[in-house]
Amino acid sequence: MQQTSPDFRDLLKTAVEIARRAAETASRMRAEAVSSTIDTKSTVTDVVTAADRAVERQVAEELRTLRPGDALLGEEYGENAADAVGSAAGAASGVRWIVDPIDGTVNYLYGLPQYAVSLAAELDGVVVAGVVRNAATGDEWTATLGGGAFHDGRPIRGSAQTDLAQSLVGTGFGYDAARRLHQAGVLTGLLPHVRDIRRWGAASLDLCFAAEGLIDAYYEKGLNPWDHAAGALIAREAGLTVEGLNGAAPGLPMVIAAPPALFPPLHAHLVTLNASGGA
Ligand code: IPD
Ligand code: CA
Repeated sequence: MQQTSPDFRDLLKTAVEIARRAAETASRMRAEAVSSTIDTKSTVTDVVTAADRAVERQVAEELRTLRPGDALLGEEYGENAADAVGSAAGAASGVRWIVDPIDGTVNYLYGLPQYAVSLAAELDGVVVAGVVRNAATGDEWTATLGGGAFHDGRPIRGSAQTDLAQSLVGTGFGYDAARRLHQAGVLTGLLPHVRDIRRWGAASLDLCFAAEGLIDAYYEKGLNPWDHAAGALIAREAGLTVEGLNGAAPGLPMVIAAPPALFPPLHAHLVTLNASGGA
């Protein structure tokens, strides 16, 4: 019997349901940690790690129930995310889910309200549905391939800015010191050519901010699929160009999300500054 492809909207519906419950778990675990660390030996840092894992396991369990046969890639358990809850990671359906259980873990640690659950569904290697939910505020961004991008159900578009010198540009830094040194050099090279720079600390949310024009553009080296899978779809569906350098797909060496008019000048600076180089 021929298998029919899942509807992108059905995948999004599942993603949204799971992401909402995951976000609840993340914020509840943080609230409990803040009160419990006072009389236990654990630290909030331990809780971050515990929460990352618990949220990813919850997502894996729910997917196993709702969509058995799909594969899962997660930040904490990698390709074995589904195995972490005792199910074989197969992709009989052609669907692979990509989850960042808590994007913005440093914000989560400090209680800054910029941390999110990011969940995307790929069909045959192409991201077709994605949700990013800010677990602190409840803001939610969604998209399906070809179906547009939304913030809490309201359609969104990227910035109409055409001048890079007037553009507010978001970025982020990796955790490795050598990589940061290189990223700092790129940043100082770019700074004189833009209005200003923003760094919030959660790549998935940065991409959503670019998607609705809260910043004009965004770039970062070193992002993993779970950081950008959902956010990149949302940004693209909001009209942004989302690519790496020199026509590459967005990935570890570089992710740029910018309106079509800003992409070429931003890209040119990042090439000149060897932004995908270094550690
Ligand atoms: C990090 C955040 C940060 C970005 C880093 C990511 P994490 O993810 O998205 O904004 O600059 O590159 O690794 O560790 O908070 O899940
Ligand atoms: Ca992340």
